[in-house]
Amino acid sequence: MKHLLTTEGMTAEAATAVLDTASELKHTLLGREVRKLPTLRGRTVITMFYENSTRTRVSFEIAGKWMSADVVNVSSSGSSVGKGESLRDTALTLAAAGADCVIIRHPASGAAHRLAEWLEESGTSVVNAGDGMHEHPTQALLDAATLRERLGDLAGRRIAIVGDVLHSRVARSNVHLLTTLGAQVVLVAPPTLLPAHVDRWPVEVSHTLDAELPSLDAVMMLRVQAERMHGGFFPSAREYSIAYGMSERRLALLPDHAVVLHPGPMLRGMEIAAAVADSPRAAITQQVSNGVHVRMAVLYHLLAHEEEVA
Ligand code: CP
Repeated sequence: MKHLLTTEGMTAEAATAVLDTASELKHTLLGREVRKLPTLRGRTVITMFYENSTRTRVSFEIAGKWMSADVVNVSSSGSSVGKGESLRDTALTLAAAGADCVIIRHPASGAAHRLAEWLEESGTSVVNAGDGMHEHPTQALLDAATLRERLGDLAGRRIAIVGDVLHSRVARSNVHLLTTLGAQVVLVAPPTLLPAHVDRWPVEVSHTLDAELPSLDAVMMLRVQAERMHGGFFPSAREYSIAYGMSERRLALLPDHAVVLHPGPMLRGMEIAAAVADSPRAAITQQVSNGVHVRMAVLYHLLAHEEEVA
């Protein structure tokens, strides 16, 4: 693997290799007092976040540090981006400074792909940590890791992705990855929050959450992306919550084994009731924890080559 830009076109074998490595790393580190492996000693990983993040940024930093890489964080404020330096010049500067891997979050869809083109000659790997409304591949991988832990093999499992699909890079990456891994995906959303080309995706579409719940193995609630709704939000927050929020009543409609996911950050009381988010049926903190191991696995597959995992 040279870059991780998208889950579209990723083979089941490649995804399973990352997920298996993540699981191996998790079990290797379990119960250790010192969570440090020498695998990426001497490698330099730079995170470049042009949009806010807690989970992705922190877990990439921890992942790099637990693998003994040198990790440097660059943000748009506090770097020369604030003086007007272009993304291309910033990227070439970081590569020239010795970056083996650049992890980028950017509001523009396609930014990570452009970066990979510009850095082709330098040999620097690029990881997409979320580009606009396009993709968030490591989120989909950590969601798949969590679902595998809760449900086992995902082939034939029925998984709903609920809410603001239109603006969600998490939804796009999950549609590609979950269907590649053999799951049946149903998108549950109001017509106003579905992309125009959804009929070309390998998914079912529903507008009625209650009707879908009894047949699900997992339900993935989405964050409402208010920052991308420049023309206003329809339905209203109250209507959204009534029609698509994961309430305690809806939790009771799911089969007993079904799991509830949310990528975070959550709008409690609107997208998901606090009692559901904090219940053992929800896997939200497990997703965050798996995010570290999945990102360790991604860095391993990009940078460690022939070396041992641990
Ligand atoms: N799920 C996710 O990407 O969260 P952050 O925006 O906090 O990184």
